[in-house]
Amino acid sequence: MLDACTHEPFDPREITLIDSTLNSVDTTDTTNTDTTTTDTTSTDTICDTADVSYATTIVSILTDNGCVGCHSSGRVMLNTHANVKHWADNDTLLGAVKHESGFMTMPPSGTPIDSCAIERLEAWINQGTKDN
Ligand code: HEC
Repeated sequence: MLDACTHEPFDPREITLIDSTLNSVDTTDTTNTDTTTTDTTSTDTICDTADVSYATTIVSILTDNGCVGCHSSGRVMLNTHANVKHWADNDTLLGAVKHESGFMTMPPSGTPIDSCAIERLEAWINQGTKDN
């Protein structure tokens, strides 16, 4: 019969191996599979682009980011569906918020809007800039 749990101490090479195995847990993986969370304000990697509509999604993105405040008169108006659709359909809206060359940078402060908001704008445009 073996003596209970007696062994030689680990040699330094084994300790290094165990240490690196423990450290190899990927803490940079932000894929969040927790669907029980009720935090709807979270800006993590979950971005719902399936369920976007002009009235709920797009109006709040444009209002919350100050776009409507600056764009209710003048050349570029973003205060009605028809006006937003015009700038969305000619690619200027996305070009501006994605800071693409050839477009003015929006918002002018230079801090881009949330990447999920951009994805949701893009999804709405790809779905046909509907008045939904
Ligand atoms: C502080 C005021 C201000 C804010 C906030 C702002 N804009 Fe603008 N934006 C302007 C001005 C001024 C122009 C130039 C208008 C013109 O040429 O008549 C402009 C131009 C644009 C254009 C035309 C770009 C081009 O290259 O021709 C688009 C599209 C646009 N804005 C979208 C947005 C969106 C979307 C937001 C919100 C994320 C936003 N803007 C926020 C002031 C603002």
